[in-house]
Amino acid sequence: MIPLRYVGRMDKVAASTSEPIFRIDGLTKIYHSGEVEVRALNGVTLELYESEMTVLLGPSGSGKSTFLNIVGGLDQASGGTVFFRDLELTKLSERQLTRYRRDHVGFVFQFYNLIPSLTAWENVALVTEVARKPMKPEDALEVVGLRDRMTHFPAQMSGGEQQRVAIARAIAKQPEVLLCDEPTGALDSKTGILVLEALTRINDELGTTTAIITHNASIQRIAHRVFSFIDGKISATHVNTERLKPHEVSW
Ligand SMILES: Nc1ncnc2c1ncn2[C@@H]1O[C@H](COP(=O)(O)OP(=O)(O)O)[C@@H](O)[C@H]1O
Ligand SMILES: [Mg+2]
Repeated sequence: MIPLRYVGRMDKVAASTSEPIFRIDGLTKIYHSGEVEVRALNGVTLELYESEMTVLLGPSGSGKSTFLNIVGGLDQASGGTVFFRDLELTKLSERQLTRYRRDHVGFVFQFYNLIPSLTAWENVALVTEVARKPMKPEDALEVVGLRDRMTHFPAQMSGGEQQRVAIARAIAKQPEVLLCDEPTGALDSKTGILVLEALTRINDELGTTTAIITHNASIQRIAHRVFSFIDGKISATHVNTERLKPHEVSW
């Protein structure tokens, strides 16, 4: 008999059949600004699964970015534990977190932060120069459908194209994990869909474990799994038995 895990993969219903890559337990984050204490995360417990696409949904201020920043090693927790495989992130020093990030995590943010004086190819190449097992910049650009735009500068590209260059830059070092904070937040729906198509393709073809933050509820249907945040807590968890393709989503 074929183990269930493989049956799941073949059916493309990967949800709940793959291994946890992140195990997060009782995660809290308290920010102190002057006299005021902000509880950004108030006991978040969840698992992210290898090779899945997860959507983190919730209103502004619900703790999504704080959560993703801690999972990505950009910020440190106030309490609780975060494991990446056997590595306990919540025990690492700043220096060790930097290495974790460099070796394992790609980030995509709402604003693309490309260097205006460099071409698309050069923007991606900046990252591949320091990576351990990089893709060629042209191959990373091919994945996001921009191979023919390699020599173009950011100002010659639309917002959605610039975001796809930023995605190519994030995946060029072949990270196991891709963390995206409102990647379509600055885009209209038509170009946003192209960005989501690029992320879906990366998840499908490279098997990159992907988490996408959004406050746009329509987008949740492209994910294997959805966690809803409210007030620093998980209010709901959902597994999509049928996923939509990005072009089937509208907002
Ligand atoms: N660096 C910070 N200092 C103080 N408060 C912060 C900081 N970052 C986030 N917060 C607060 O933590 C809460 C959660 O923020 P955030 O994680 O950015 O939410 P989301 O990404 O869901 O909009 C909000 O109340 C926000 O104002
Ligand atoms: Mg945010």
